[in-house]
Formats: sequence, structure tokens, C-alpha cells
Amino acid sequence: MKLCQSLSGCYLALMKEFIASLGQVCAVIGAQWGDEGKGKAVDALAEHFDVIARASGGANAGHTIIFDGKKHVFHLLPSGSFHADRKIILGAGMVIHLPTLLEEIAELEQSGVEILPRLTVSPAAHIVLDCYKDIDAALEERRAETAGKIGTTKRGIGPAYMFKAMRAGMRMESLTRSIVELRGKIAAIADMARSLFGVSADVDREFELLRQAADSLRGCIAGAGEIAEFLNSKKSRILIEGAQATLLDLDHGTYPYVTSSATTAAGAMHGLGMPPGRLSSCIGVAKAYCTRVGEGEFTTEAAEPAAGRLRERGGEFGATTGRPRRCGWLSIPDLRHSAIINGFDLWNITKLDVLDAEEAIPVGMGSDDSGNVVWQRMPGWMASTAGITEFEKLPKAAQAYIRFIEEQTNIPVRLIGTGQERGQMIVKKI
Ligand code: IMP
Repeated sequence: MKLCQSLSGCYLALMKEFIASLGQVCAVIGAQWGDEGKGKAVDALAEHFDVIARASGGANAGHTIIFDGKKHVFHLLPSGSFHADRKIILGAGMVIHLPTLLEEIAELEQSGVEILPRLTVSPAAHIVLDCYKDIDAALEERRAETAGKIGTTKRGIGPAYMFKAMRAGMRMESLTRSIVELRGKIAAIADMARSLFGVSADVDREFELLRQAADSLRGCIAGAGEIAEFLNSKKSRILIEGAQATLLDLDHGTYPYVTSSATTAAGAMHGLGMPPGRLSSCIGVAKAYCTRVGEGEFTTEAAEPAAGRLRERGGEFGATTGRPRRCGWLSIPDLRHSAIINGFDLWNITKLDVLDAEEAIPVGMGSDDSGNVVWQRMPGWMASTAGITEFEKLPKAAQAYIRFIEEQTNIPVRLIGTGQERGQMIVKKI
């Protein structure tokens, strides 16, 4: 599966130079509130790397890629998993719902993509039990009556990290232990679910799900130190797929309307057990506009009918939950904030074509003394950019929009998405 099969020699040469510039370890990190299109970038780059890794989060992620006109959504496996022979690693910072992982593996294997022989899962990654989803829902209900809900994906992510931080969680290594031990651990968690959250867990069912998963996955669970040793051996090129995004980071995001994991480049290195200095490049991924799912501040949120236009043109409905995404415009301070936290080397600006029908494009530049957003209106281009692969072929106003992002953030834009398909991407010279 070659990304650039039908593309010109010039494009391929530029891509080659670009790939070489990324160095040995590259992280792809979302700069906004998720759904920026990290999956497409990872899928495009994966064939040039030996290892594709996910470091944190769980099945709250929904990374969509379109290949041969077919849509595929990854929740736990990295989006680059389509590329045969690449090693796949799920790191210690992840929280894994095993039936979802098995389903995802089965779906890919049915399409002829083998996963199990090249999958390695950290023994320290935490398991998401089904009852965590019920706890997630119960906590949201309580919040709705008090401080207001967060709008979680209800995939049990918050509870999984809560149990982890309470040092009461269950890790992947449990699947390699005795059945008696496994059952005892589930019973202990069920006790806590009842006493702390008033949620009753079905111990027999949870046990059966884990037993089935253990049969399939036992061989993929690495031994202590194995992943760290492999990743740090400097023999392989490693591509790290960030999950969620910087503004959803537990520490650096728009707390409390955030997810429960570390979503930054540093968080990804920690989640995989790699020293920060090993990262050779970090790609910041941002939409040419902005979306958010769930509650929380969104200063550049658009009013109707613009929000509806962006939602329709961009297909802005949650890949995991199907919820309509809130839509709005780019915020330069948010991009700068994310760039600082992650140390972005370059931007991948995605979904530029979604703006093709906008007469003018507002960009949030910050706020005035009264807290109102200060807007800069950029001219639209009112022409199709769909499928364009050369920067010089973009309408002048679209080129100016990209240059504006570069000037305002002081970071070069190197990749620009112009459609959903794999090859619909510009690799731009610096
Ligand atoms: P949780 O991660 O399910 O606890 O949800 C917490 C917040 O993060 C909610 O606002 C979710 O909508 C948001 N969120 C979590 N994962 C994603 C994602 O992959 N894309 C977009 N938003 C997400």
C-alpha cells in the first residue's frame, strides 16, 4: 500500500526529503480538542517507520482513515496498523477495553491485515472493565445535577485512570496470571465500584470477557522492561500517534473539561517509557478551523449558520460517539499554547478544503480587556482545493491563509490536508 502511487516524481522527492527530516522518533500530536485528523497523518507516514505506537488514552479516541473510498475507524490500535510488517506497540500509559481491542483486531484480520503477530502490549497498560463505563455514566449524571457534566465519551476512561491513581486498577499483566488471581482482582474492583460509586458490576461476565481476551492476547503482552529496551535500542524508526489532543490534556488543557490522560508529546514519551530527549520531531496537527466535542470553553465557536456549514462540509460528527461536534474558527493563541507545550517543529494543517465555500474566514487572535474575542477576517478563496497536492496550485487566498498561520505561530506548515483520501495531501517546502 503505497501512499504516493499516483503522484508525481517531484511530490515523491519532496515527501522523501520531508520523511528524512523527521528523524528516528516522531510524534504526531493534536493541537486543539481532538479530531484534528492525526490518523490520516499517521497512516501516511507509517510506511516509512518500523514501529507505530500509541502511548496514552483508550477507546475514547476515534481515528478515521479513508482508504480506497472505504472508511476505517481506529479506537485502540494506531492508525498506521494497515501497513503490514510494521510493529505495533500499545504503551503503558494506555487504558484498554479488551473486547473493543479484540473486535478491532478481528475486523482488520477479516480484511486481510494481520495484527496479532506484530502487536506488543505493555504489561503496565491498564484494563478498562465494563463496569467503568457504568461508573463514567453515573459520574456524568451526578455532575449534571451539580457542577455540570463534562460530556465524556462514556468509554470508562476517567474511572480507569481513577482506579490506576488509587493503585487499585488492573493491568494487562493480570492476563498472564492464574485464573484465581484474575477473578479475585475483578471481585475486589466490583466491591469498590459498589461501595464508592453505587455501581454493581457483573463479576462473572467481566471475568469471562477477560478470560477470552487472555486466550487471544497473552502472547502479545511484553515482559518487564522489554518495550523500553526495544524502543530505546535506537535500531528502529518509531512513529508515535498521540491520542485526544493538547487542549484536552489533564494538566495543560481546559480543565475540568478534559480527558484523564496526558495527551502531549511529553505525555506520549512518558506513556511509552522513552526519555524525552529521544524525540527527534514533533508534528502539531490542527484543523484549518476548529471543533470540540463535549462541554467546556470554546471562545472561537461559530454561530449558525456558519457552524452548520462547517459541520456538514467537514463531516463533523464524533467517530466514537456519533455526537455532532461543536464547530468554530481557528484560535491563534490556542495554537501558540499547544506549540509551546509540545515543542512542535512543524504543522500539519488538515481539512483546508472544508473552508472552500467561505467568503471570509474569521480567525481568533486573542481577547480584549472585556474578554471579547478579537477577530481577524481572512479573505476566503471560494474555489475548490479538493485533492490538490502542490502548494503553488492552491488559490492565492488559501496560500495566504497558510502563510498567516506560519507567521503567527512561527512554525512552518509542511503538510496540508485537502481531502479525506490518503493521497489528498500537500507536502509543502519550507
Ligand atoms: P473522556 O475522555 O471520555 O473522559 O471525555 C472527556 C472529554 O474529552 C470529553 O469532552 C470528550 O468529548 C473529549 N474527548 C475524549 N476523547 C476524544 C477524542 O478522541 N476526540 C475528541 N474529543 C475527545
